[in-house]
Amino acid sequence: MLIRTQQDGFIHPFSSEITSPEVYANRRQLLRQWSAGAAALGMGSWAQREAFAQGSSAAVKLPALPATQSGVQGAMTVEKVTSYKDATSYNNFYEFGLDKTDPARYAHTLKTTPWSIEVEGLVKKPTRFNLEDVMKWGAMQERIYRLRCVEGWSMVIPWIGYSLSDLIKRVEPLPSAKFVEFVTQVDPQTMPGLRSGYIDWPFTEGLRMDEAMHPLTLLSFGMYGEVMPKQNGAPVRLVVPWKYGFKSGKSIVKIRFVEKQPMVSWAKAAPQEYGFYSNVNPLVDHPRWSQAMERRIGEGGLFEKKRKTLMFNGYEAQVASLYAGMDLVKNF
Ligand code: MTE
Repeated sequence: MLIRTQQDGFIHPFSSEITSPEVYANRRQLLRQWSAGAAALGMGSWAQREAFAQGSSAAVKLPALPATQSGVQGAMTVEKVTSYKDATSYNNFYEFGLDKTDPARYAHTLKTTPWSIEVEGLVKKPTRFNLEDVMKWGAMQERIYRLRCVEGWSMVIPWIGYSLSDLIKRVEPLPSAKFVEFVTQVDPQTMPGLRSGYIDWPFTEGLRMDEAMHPLTLLSFGMYGEVMPKQNGAPVRLVVPWKYGFKSGKSIVKIRFVEKQPMVSWAKAAPQEYGFYSNVNPLVDHPRWSQAMERRIGEGGLFEKKRKTLMFNGYEAQVASLYAGMDLVKNF
C-alpha cells in the first residue's frame, strides 16, 4: 500500500455537502419510502440511537437502510464506534485518488444507479442480477466490526448487510468452485484515480470458498443506519473483518467462482508485500513496517497512543480454525 505521511488535521467535507443535487432531491422521497421500515426497528439501529443521543434527527444524511442487530457470533464488538465523520472522510478508494481525503472529495461522481452484479464462472447459471434483487436475498443486519487497514490504522464501523454465504447459496456454485473472485467498478469517466498506474485496474480481490462462506464475511449495502456512502464503496462492498482492509473490495460489479486461487490486485502489484490471505496478524510484519500496533482513527489526535493489533483482528475464536495447520508466515 502507498503510505502517505500527511496528518489528518485538515477540514473534511461532510457527505451531505458533497452529495450531488440530483441525489439530494431524491432523498426526501427515499426517506419517506423507507421510513416505515425504519420505524419498525424502534431505537435498534445505530443511526437512530445516535440521533436520539444528539436530541435530533439530523444525523440521517443518506437514505436510511433498515436492519436488525446481528446474532452472528462475534459480529457486535462493544468497542466505541468511530465517528461517522471520520469513517466517511478518511478513506482508501484509489479509483478516486491516493490521498485519504480524495474519496470524500471526488466519489460523488460515482454513478450507483442502475447497478448490477454479474455472477459468473463455476455456478449453475451465470446471470447478471439487479442490485435491488440482490438486496432482497438476505435479511439486513447491523454488524459492528473492527476494520484494520494494512497501513496501520483501524476503525470500528456499524455496517449493514447480510452474510455473503446467503448470496453464494442462492447462486449455487459448482463443486469445482474453490475460490471466489470479486471485481470492482472501473469507470474512467468518473474515477480520476484510474489514471494512476499503481494497480492494473479493475481492483480485484478474492477469498477461498470457506472464507467466503464464513458467517462473518459480510456483503454490505450500508453503514451507520444508512445506505453506503460513495466514498465507502457504494452501493455494495465486501467486509471481511479478520483480514486487512484491502481484502474488502468496494463497489463490486462481478462475483466470479473459480477453481484456482485468483491473482488479486495488491498481490499482483507487490507480491513480496501483499499475499492472497492477508489475515490481520501482529506477528507477521509487512516488509516495510511492523504490524504489531495500530492507530485507532479518532482517538486522541496527534498524541494518541497506539493499541496492540489483535490476532485475526480479534476474530480468532471465530476464524482460526479456517487456517488450522497452515503456515501463516508463508501464507501471509
Ligand atoms: N476497494 C476498491 N475498489 N478500491 C480501493 O482502493 N481500498 C481498500 C478497501 N477496498 C480499496 C477498496 C483498502 S486499502 C481499505 S483499508 C478499505 O477499502 C478502506 O475502507 P474504508 O475507506 O471504508 O474505511
